[in-house]
Amino acid sequence: MSTLAGKPVEKLTEHEAARELERLAEEIAAHDRAYYQEDRPKISDAEYDALRKRNAAIEARFPRLIRPDSPSHRVGARPSEKFAKVVHAVPMLSLDNAFDDQDVTDFVGRVRRFLGWGDDKPLVFVAEPKIDGLSASLRYENGLFVQGATRGDGTEGEDITANLRTIKDVPLRLAGKAPKIMEVRGEVYMTHANFAALNKRQEKEGKQTYANPRNSAAGSVRQLDPAITAARALNFFAYAWGEASALPADTQWGMLQQFKAWGFQVNPLIRRCETVQAVLKFYREIESRRAGLGYDIDGVVYKVDRLDLQERLGFVSRSPRWAIAHKFPAEQAETVLLKIDIQVGRTGKLTPVARLKPVNVGGVVVENATLHNEDEIARLDAREGDTVIIQRAGDVIPQVVRVIREKRPRSAKPYEMPRKCPICGSHAVREVDEKTGEEEVDRRCTGGLICAAQAVERLKHFVGRDAFDIEGLGGTYIETLYDAGLLKEPSDIFALTRKQAELDRVLREKRAEQSAERRAREGKAAPGSKAKRKDEGESKLIENLITSINNRREIALDRFINALGIRHVGETNARLLARNFHTIGEFMAAMEGKDALEQLNAIGGIGDVVAEAIKDFFDEPHNRKVLAHLLKEVDVRPMAAPKVSGSPVAGKTVVFTGTLEKMTRQEAKARAESLGAKTAGSVSKKTDLVVAGPGAGSKLAEAQKLGVKVIDEATWLKMIEGL
Ligand code: IVH
Repeated sequence: MSTLAGKPVEKLTEHEAARELERLAEEIAAHDRAYYQEDRPKISDAEYDALRKRNAAIEARFPRLIRPDSPSHRVGARPSEKFAKVVHAVPMLSLDNAFDDQDVTDFVGRVRRFLGWGDDKPLVFVAEPKIDGLSASLRYENGLFVQGATRGDGTEGEDITANLRTIKDVPLRLAGKAPKIMEVRGEVYMTHANFAALNKRQEKEGKQTYANPRNSAAGSVRQLDPAITAARALNFFAYAWGEASALPADTQWGMLQQFKAWGFQVNPLIRRCETVQAVLKFYREIESRRAGLGYDIDGVVYKVDRLDLQERLGFVSRSPRWAIAHKFPAEQAETVLLKIDIQVGRTGKLTPVARLKPVNVGGVVVENATLHNEDEIARLDAREGDTVIIQRAGDVIPQVVRVIREKRPRSAKPYEMPRKCPICGSHAVREVDEKTGEEEVDRRCTGGLICAAQAVERLKHFVGRDAFDIEGLGGTYIETLYDAGLLKEPSDIFALTRKQAELDRVLREKRAEQSAERRAREGKAAPGSKAKRKDEGESKLIENLITSINNRREIALDRFINALGIRHVGETNARLLARNFHTIGEFMAAMEGKDALEQLNAIGGIGDVVAEAIKDFFDEPHNRKVLAHLLKEVDVRPMAAPKVSGSPVAGKTVVFTGTLEKMTRQEAKARAESLGAKTAGSVSKKTDLVVAGPGAGSKLAEAQKLGVKVIDEATWLKMIEGL
């Protein structure tokens, strides 16, 4: 560091002042980069402010020396918060995928069956390119753009209004007549030309470059400084909508035309298709034009055109029944498999990972690929030293597709999966399924609680984005704190907030160890004065960490359940459980009761395997203990029943039986569930209502025996009319 840095401003000569301003401009810009773009501040706010203050003081003394790139031109400094959260009035969902023609044919068949439509009834689809960017929701009130948000987790996104305003494809005012409230949704993306220009600029300015246009669009839209977003030329295609006080059309096609009339860009390649053959023809045409479009697409989307049919079809968990994404095949490349490593996951699963000679696959450098399990390695006959074909598609982990046998070195030996966990040394076994008597494909470490890898992975899952979402507590911290004995189970994370001194010591030691290693590597001497300044930065980090842990002492029930890491219970099943039991108390009471399995099996969407896994989790005393410890530290917010104001069936258990005339049974059940009812396949004393059509047999009899209320389809429809 320059010795000028410590010299009082009033003692600087003009020449020294110029040098100091140059240094400060550079240093502050570097910290801005670390803070804004890498989300990784290197110094404390106070230190940062001191740099800016010194810069301002020198400029005040020597106004002639103010540089064109002076940090003082950038107003606003650091915003105290990141983006505000926006709750989506209508969730932003994703699409189910089709990978081949058969999947598409099946999709169309499913739609027809759900609607109870024969093969001859005309059914129109709108086919659209699937833009590979990031989705955004733009809210217009009385025709004016008032708020824009990212998709986030689908329920809650980030407020990026200021950034979206800088995109020229986003009209600030809708042309012509517009409903009072209209949320237009679509994709923010970056063209190939703008992507190349941006990366060239970044490189010239010594800044980080982006791997592909999608990351670059995402990075640009999430800039805290809208001026940066503005400089990065983004585009927007409109293709969907959220909350709307009125809809200007009754088809998808009509909506897209209206979007254009309002001033949006709608993809010019969209087409109406009336048959499976027509949608598949569209797919092939778009695929052949893909390289020349000037922006990335990763498939095409088919949507049922009529909105009334879309409404009837509704949703299955996170995706609409009325649409599907037909993905383009993954991109492939050839490289060398250098080594096979084993990773141990949170459930003890041993996953072989291929370490590869770095290779560019469709714009992304790939160095690792999954080999899934030993059966897969055997099937591929993959060996260290082999030349392999790998592929990647979207955000999924790259895979090894096949081995090029002709290029195999003579010395290459068949791979043997270890029989012991590489982390804890416990036996690693393939369990035998009790029912089928077959060996499971995965080999698992039997170390359970003593296996550090499992414990660490569970903790990582616990703090992850879809679970407790604890900012600043990344994988490396967890490993360090686990090794130091400060973290064993989830409740220990919250206990950290009372162990500031220990936390401080452990992280300091770790850092000292790291820099000693680095110095040894680089052959440098011991640290000088810089160390103290860095230490202060560290205290700030610890303070921030404690704040973000404390911020998560209250959590929604579905996130809480997901965080527990119960086998087979991810985001979707956690949500189903939360919706069903509403509070953590009810959930635990039910799981510790005698009819736990019955209760789980009654939940639509929870199958046998999942139900067993949940029951097993609660049968294990250790898990109950961990849970009890955790509940001393956090409050779990109850999950409200789905939005069903005025619904007479909310919370009720309904059974449909016999033939329904106006809709299929599947549709009737879906509709009932959307109104907050639970549906069941059989009648018991917990059933509140039976809807019986002609031909109802034993279920009707059972209902009559138990005195459960029975109504016919017409009465049912009347009951839910207008909801
Ligand atoms: S429709 C309820 N149409 O694909 C359905 N999505 O995999 C809303 N996407 O999150 C989505 N192009 O980000 C739709 N023409 C298109 C699309 C499209 C790209 C993205 C979108 C969505 C994702 C689902």
